[in-house]
Amino acid sequence: MSTFVEINEVGLRDGLQNQSKAINTEQKLRLAEKLIDANIKFIEATSFVSPKAVPQMADNSEVLKGLEKLQQGKEICTTVLVPNMRGYDNAMQNNVNSIAIVLATTDSFNEKNLNMSLEQTRAVCRDLIKQANKDGIKVRTYISGACACPYDGKQPVSLVKALCDEMIETGTDEISIADTTGAGSPAQIAEIFESLLKAYSTDLFNVHFHDTRGQALAMCWEALRLGIRKFDSSIAGLGGCPFAPGAKGNIATEDLVYMLHSSGYETGIDFTKLFDAIAVAEEITQAKLGGKIMPWVYTQQEKGRNIVF
Ligand code: COA
Ligand code: ZN
Repeated sequence: MSTFVEINEVGLRDGLQNQSKAINTEQKLRLAEKLIDANIKFIEATSFVSPKAVPQMADNSEVLKGLEKLQQGKEICTTVLVPNMRGYDNAMQNNVNSIAIVLATTDSFNEKNLNMSLEQTRAVCRDLIKQANKDGIKVRTYISGACACPYDGKQPVSLVKALCDEMIETGTDEISIADTTGAGSPAQIAEIFESLLKAYSTDLFNVHFHDTRGQALAMCWEALRLGIRKFDSSIAGLGGCPFAPGAKGNIATEDLVYMLHSSGYETGIDFTKLFDAIAVAEEITQAKLGGKIMPWVYTQQEKGRNIVF
């Protein structure tokens, strides 16, 4: 089985959407520049949602234009989140070729997030997938609240499986199993993937874990053990969801990359260059951030020691 792991950096979207302090385009692009310097190849850049619902993403077009300039020959795969056809059309006007769509497991979560019931959201997702397929646009469907709904608690694996079946049958290129509030456990990930992998191959899946209760690394390890090779993470552990109370940041990119590299996996990412991105993330949010690995990194740096895996 491949030892290469694809890291999709979601700090610019999931990480920044919930910041209380307004982050401007220039600041976002400074962060993006450091991420690209560290050789990150997959970036969820922004979302095309209502600026009233998520003001931090109102500069979506400017961020995409800026990112295009920053790439300078490097092949970066940029994804944007779209909640509906209006968002899709807006994204298309910005030459996007990969989208993320969101389907939460319950009525309550879909209503809070998108102002639609579960059934309405399923219908919108089916339409988005069909349109994306027609246009040759790659689409990843997030099954949000896969481990637990922030309002209605734990949901059965059979529901997660049924939503995946429907979206795969409709034509989604990928599914992301998303633990939006960080309420899951490694055992739950095993249970979900044992069901899914009976029917589908591992390359259809990505995982998206938040680290609210400190379980995300262990959950990633479980997904990795089961053959999953695509992971979302957020630099410095930035993040949270404005529509899911209690949702903290995503698993920190630096924690995930360290775990992978120290366990013999490759990501293509330059671990030590992530520190510059963490510094920018802290500066623009004016918050002390960083994954679990960072206190050790800072001690190594103070003592003048190299970072070795
Ligand atoms: N982009 C920009 N504006 C949009 C939009 C989109 N994708 N979809 C709708 N709008 C605008 C409408 O034009 C309308 O504007 P107006 O008030 O100036 O007339 C307004 O938003 C309300 O439109 P409506 O269709 O009634 O939407 P809604 O109020 O039911 O909200 C969503 C639905 C999906 C637009 C909104 O809930 C949303 O953007 N959610 C995003 C959630 C998110 O990003 N979550 C984090 C990711 S998991
Ligand atoms: Zn998230």
